[in-house]
Amino acid sequence: MCGIVGCILKNDKAAPVLLDCVQGLEYRGYDSVGLATYSASGIKIKKDKGKIKEVSEKLHLEELPGEIGIGHVRWATHGLPTKENAHPHTDCTGKIAVVHNGIIENYKELKDQLEDEGHQFTSQTDTEVIPHLVEKYMSQGVGLEEAMNQTISKLHGSYAFAVISTDEPHKIMGVRKESPLILGVGDGEYFLASDAPAILQHTRRIIYLADHETFIMDADGVTVKDREGQVMDKEIETIRWTPEMAQKGGYDHFMLKEIHEQPEAVKNTLFEVSDIKKIVSKFPEFKRITFVACGTSYHASMVGKYLFEGLLGLPTDVILASEFEFAANALDPDSLVIFISQSGETADTLKALKIANKKAETLAIVNVLGSTATREADHVIFTRAGPEIGVAATKTYISQLTCIYLLVACMSGDKELLEELQQVPDHMKKVFSYEDKIKDMAAKYKDAQDFFFIGRGFSYPTALEGALKLKEITYIHGEGYAAGELKHGPLALIDDDVPVVTVVPPGKSHDRTLSNVEEVKARGARVIGLGSSEDQVLKYEAHDMVEFSPEINELISPLIYVVPLQLLSYHISVARGIDPDKPKNLAKCVTVE
Ligand code: F6R
Repeated sequence: MCGIVGCILKNDKAAPVLLDCVQGLEYRGYDSVGLATYSASGIKIKKDKGKIKEVSEKLHLEELPGEIGIGHVRWATHGLPTKENAHPHTDCTGKIAVVHNGIIENYKELKDQLEDEGHQFTSQTDTEVIPHLVEKYMSQGVGLEEAMNQTISKLHGSYAFAVISTDEPHKIMGVRKESPLILGVGDGEYFLASDAPAILQHTRRIIYLADHETFIMDADGVTVKDREGQVMDKEIETIRWTPEMAQKGGYDHFMLKEIHEQPEAVKNTLFEVSDIKKIVSKFPEFKRITFVACGTSYHASMVGKYLFEGLLGLPTDVILASEFEFAANALDPDSLVIFISQSGETADTLKALKIANKKAETLAIVNVLGSTATREADHVIFTRAGPEIGVAATKTYISQLTCIYLLVACMSGDKELLEELQQVPDHMKKVFSYEDKIKDMAAKYKDAQDFFFIGRGFSYPTALEGALKLKEITYIHGEGYAAGELKHGPLALIDDDVPVVTVVPPGKSHDRTLSNVEEVKARGARVIGLGSSEDQVLKYEAHDMVEFSPEINELISPLIYVVPLQLLSYHISVARGIDPDKPKNLAKCVTVE
């Protein structure tokens, strides 16, 4: 996840405005920053790795000359956070500059072709193919717009990009496809950004672009065209947001924003499939899988165990990173040891990775490019969640799960599973239509002292994750339990009014979990049921219910059923007057053992 901006002003002070705009997008990435402006002396670029403030103090970004320019904040996806990989990127001549957000899936193939044709690349990014493709088509005699359209026809993946060229100065062009992009209309001044908050200080009049729409912006205005190149009559909407809301993209908290970004996070992570296939093709025959992780990442690993054992028949262990040294002696050298960590910097996980590296093949599934885990492991898969600011992991958990499902689908050759994964973003979006109901439930249950979360099989890690979220951000005691295990002790704790959240998607453990619902109800518990909209028994038994599409079966349910549990904890936290983004005693990255 990166952020792009651009502007055409009436004066020659584009750079300070661009700088202000990228600051509004810092939540989208903070690995590196760069600006390109056009003036009589051509396109000038300043960029480097580091936070906006540091880079700006060092390079004086605001001093770039010109009334037109583009800018970028980067969250590294292809290529480490370095000056070379920072945007804007240029063609061979430096006459074309591009900023891009998204993933160009087929960039390797395009880069190879362009290099064969003599183009010189200076970065490891996927983005750099764009200015070189535009250069190639312009050198064949077409204008910038036609060159951009021909470039778009070659790209696979998700992208929002903006391009400037010295051959057609005083214009910015761009496109949106599956990555956000809006245009801003000021008083004779024009803007573009990944998100409205970036340009709020300059205009509140916004044009929302849809997928495949292109735009051309100059001092006279903005033209938007559809996929067929027809000029569109786009509505200009006036938004009412405060600068305080801006940072969070209009949401009250980063956590809520990140929960709502999960469909996008899944979509972006699914693009990893080609890299995962390549990694898998190099694997020897493993006899055992061992997952190592902490906290939420540990719960993602537990889903991995059910997948590897259920679909591949491979014996799988899941070990807490802080306990790994005690198990390391028995590590099978024919194992693949998979480390799951959003930060890639968790001390317990890194220590375990060092030990495992000496004994078996290692794979890290990590969200932060360039983090220590990515340098230490034999293989790396990236979760494309973008930066997660809220302390409680949400979209990184979903992206970790997506990677694990992809890994298992690639190792087993299960095409049906790959297809099912494509439906996950849409299933998730439907859950958001239940948010008001979940908010009401939060108000109802916010004063409970203890919660239980129960589920079997694939729903057991979901129950554990629901309980962890509750503890972290509401300070209410939450206990996740395997539904069948409840009767072996914890049932003694169930009495009047204890909320028991029951995760019971359609599947083979459904009926047995419903028997456990009967058991807790008989002891006075209040049941919150998560199940299919066609589940009449659960509807009858539960005091409150969150309904899901009946198409979501047990196997795929961990990716979707956890979303209302994240929302429930979030809304309870807010109802109790807690800041869910900064829970007490916790840190985003735990770098001590
Ligand atoms: C919970 C949470 C933590 C982390 C754990 C591991 O919401 O965020 O439990 O999951 O500290 O962190 P990573 O994944 O960075 O290794």
